[in-house]
Amino acid sequence: MRVLSGIQPTGRPHWGNYFGAIRQYIDLQEANEGFYFIADLHALTTVREPDVLRENVLNAALDLLALGLDPAKANLFVQSEIPEVTELTWLLMTGTSMGLLERCHAYKEKKAKGLAADAGLFTYPVLMAADILAYDSQIVPVGVDQVQHIEVCRDLAGSFHHAFGETFVLPKAKTLDIGAKVPGTDGQKMSKSYNNTLPLFGDVKKIRKQIMRIVTDSRPMEDPKDPTDDHLFQLYQLFAAPAEVEAMAAKYRAGGFGYGEIKKAVAEVSEEYFAPARAKREELEADLDTVRDVLAEGAKRAREVAASVVERARRNCGLR
Ligand code: TYM
Repeated sequence: MRVLSGIQPTGRPHWGNYFGAIRQYIDLQEANEGFYFIADLHALTTVREPDVLRENVLNAALDLLALGLDPAKANLFVQSEIPEVTELTWLLMTGTSMGLLERCHAYKEKKAKGLAADAGLFTYPVLMAADILAYDSQIVPVGVDQVQHIEVCRDLAGSFHHAFGETFVLPKAKTLDIGAKVPGTDGQKMSKSYNNTLPLFGDVKKIRKQIMRIVTDSRPMEDPKDPTDDHLFQLYQLFAAPAEVEAMAAKYRAGGFGYGEIKKAVAEVSEEYFAPARAKREELEADLDTVRDVLAEGAKRAREVAASVVERARRNCGLR
């Protein structure tokens, strides 16, 4: 199967990015043809400092490779190095209804907050559709917040087909049961824009402090609690083995234990879980040329595929 997904280089990746999406990339690279990219064009809608953007892109590549993306098995590249994708964005845009984009949540939320949205944010889902369609992608592993955008992609492909005949492969979103919507330190969805993230890399002591400050409810310690509606428990579940998760659930139900205990457990399991990736990242940092080579190779292969798909789209809609 052809698998594709992207991540925005808008800051350091967090637990939500890993458990919702990146973990899937790593699993799926074994038996599929993977195309994974760093969405720098999308990031331009928020990152407006060139040096920061450049640094973020390189950091995102280091992060993905450290977490286990293997360039011998999958292609890793930078979105903007495939100009065919921006060309395809225009081809799709000409058949996109304004109403469809008005219903997309990133734009809707920004508008609801009274913030000024630019045309880049408004048409963001069309660029994302082009990302997916340009590689004849069949499966798109993501967190639940991106599922709407993949539906939009299917709609846009459908409108194009209606006007110009069968052209694209229709993709399917793939989400996990556990991890599709990782909560942040305040219990809302973990998101860079809510300032509630727990990073994958960085100073361990600082992360531990952030974990200890996770917001909890104020029910008395002796009350039995339902583990399933507690975000600390949900975080613990991401890391611990099933038997440990069951033991923790039993403690919740029995009552008489404090949130401090599970916070400590979350800090310990998460530290241990990401330790190998931290070590790998340090190795890679000392060898940035190799990382740049990986991105160049990935872009070469991605471009071959995108060029042939976009050629098909150009032909079908009557461009020379
Ligand atoms: P981005 O950079 O916001 O997020 C990258 C991936 O992480 C997932 N994710 C989460 N999953 C579970 N729980 C959370 N709290 C959480 N927060 C983030 C996201 O669902 C995503 O899979 N528009 C995309 C980037 C993109 C893309 C694409 C993705 C551009 N083109 C084509 C797939 C296909 C984005 O902003 O992801």
